[in-house]
Amino acid sequence: MPPARGWHGPGGGQIGNLDPPTMWRATTVQACGLWPFAAGSGAPMTGVPLGQHLFTGATVCGDPLSWFTRAHYISNPSLFMLGMPGLGKSTLINRMLIGLAATGVVPLVLGDLKPDYADTVRALGGQIISIGRGAGGINILDPGAMGAAAVRIGGEAGRLLAAEAHGRVLNVVAALITIVRNRPMDDHEQSVLSAALHHLRERTPPGTAPLLPDLLRVLTEGPDRVRAVTLDRGDDTRYRDAVDPLHRSLLGILDGPLGDTFASETSTRIDLNATAVCIDISRIGEADTQLTAAAMLAAWSDGLGTVAASHALADAGLTPRRWFFTVLDELWRPLRAASGIVDRIDALTRLNRTLGLGDAKITHTLKDAEALGTDSDRAKARGFVERAGMVVVAGLPRQEMEELGRIVGLTRREIALVSSWSSPPGWAAHGDREEPPGRGRFLIKVGGRPGIPIQVAITDTERHLHDTNKRWVPNDRAAEHAAEHMRRLTEVNPNGGWNA
Ligand SMILES: Nc1ncnc2c1ncn2[C@@H]1O[C@H](COP(=O)(O)OP(=O)(O)O)[C@@H](O)[C@H]1O
Ligand SMILES: [Mg+2]
Repeated sequence: MPPARGWHGPGGGQIGNLDPPTMWRATTVQACGLWPFAAGSGAPMTGVPLGQHLFTGATVCGDPLSWFTRAHYISNPSLFMLGMPGLGKSTLINRMLIGLAATGVVPLVLGDLKPDYADTVRALGGQIISIGRGAGGINILDPGAMGAAAVRIGGEAGRLLAAEAHGRVLNVVAALITIVRNRPMDDHEQSVLSAALHHLRERTPPGTAPLLPDLLRVLTEGPDRVRAVTLDRGDDTRYRDAVDPLHRSLLGILDGPLGDTFASETSTRIDLNATAVCIDISRIGEADTQLTAAAMLAAWSDGLGTVAASHALADAGLTPRRWFFTVLDELWRPLRAASGIVDRIDALTRLNRTLGLGDAKITHTLKDAEALGTDSDRAKARGFVERAGMVVVAGLPRQEMEELGRIVGLTRREIALVSSWSSPPGWAAHGDREEPPGRGRFLIKVGGRPGIPIQVAITDTERHLHDTNKRWVPNDRAAEHAAEHMRRLTEVNPNGGWNA
């Protein structure tokens, strides 16, 4: 027994706290047999293996779905990630995609802007759908997987699902009109639109989907049901006055800045049984904000419709239950594209618990929210961070950390640590790439708990799946680099599964 105040002498004395011992995790192949020194860990061990604790070296595991469903650390299966560009945010989310897919969760990247996830989804044997002018489109009037599931389920449940599908179509048409007008639609126009869509649906033979030009034809013909909601009182001029603005906006979707991306048949439907889905919108130019926003909204609507359909089928006992994980990377781009978007993302994230859906949103800084047009939009965008179950921060300048600290509660040490990760790399003497000091370092915050700083070491496979420097390979090495890339991709999924 040591004396109460510890032993006298160099290195002796009293100690208030004992650091928890480092915990390592290994597979039974790596560490077979019984390890007698099992101990509780200071770091969470449930979920996708993310990296090592920066100070103790202990393995840290986590993802919003596992922390919500199994570990009960968080009350909402969502993750919000912030950090300067190039520090490895998308790479870490790619790792979550791979880990979650291994547990049977279906990753959905509904609007990949760069693309950051297409290679991973392809390697997982998932489905890639390209959208852009001339590259492929989504028919926004197509009830998609929900419509098909409604027919398959039948009865009262099928009718309810069909009504929900109708609401979803109405919503996405209204959203696109908001984008081309750059202001929201008013109520009475929404009722006209809803009546016209109802009429159209009844007229369309089952198994086929109407197209936007069909909707325009309904407005031109003016069936009684549509006339009734315009209060035309039998006067054709009053009817035209009521529907003309709507008509014009729909023409704007057909021929205006959105091209015909949303007006023809859906080029590739989301496969309800895919292991992962990526809707690649990277061919749409960065300056093309309206089309970007519209494509994202159409992709979410279609993707979340697929999720709803999957759950409805599982409820009816027709398919096994599946969970989903959606990713919204480069969030600032759609946020800035149109004012209605914040509302849509807001609605999406409030629903995710009921939809059996985990989600990750990634952006650079809180300033992305400040740049939005209205106070209510700004408040909603900040709400994303407040409501996220899990907040992950890569390097950010001190001032921004202070600001973030007011929302998620950060200690001085945490602020100092993360700020130090935002310093630029040194000048490499030897022509090689110098790594930014914060690359692969993240602080994970959950509620009021102390943050967990981690260091992510990526494997060669991951490096090839997500190499943002691909276009900077010197020409004399390009062929070799491309061949290596293809080899890595097939290595992950030797059975092929090339759905592109
Ligand atoms: N933990 C890591 N270790 C080494 N390199 C990494 C790590 N994470 C990412 N990288 C590399 O850094 C580059 C930028 O990563 P990326 O995930 O695109 O950053 P962000 O999404 O934060 O902008 C990529 O080329 C990637 O391969
Ligand atoms: Mg990124």
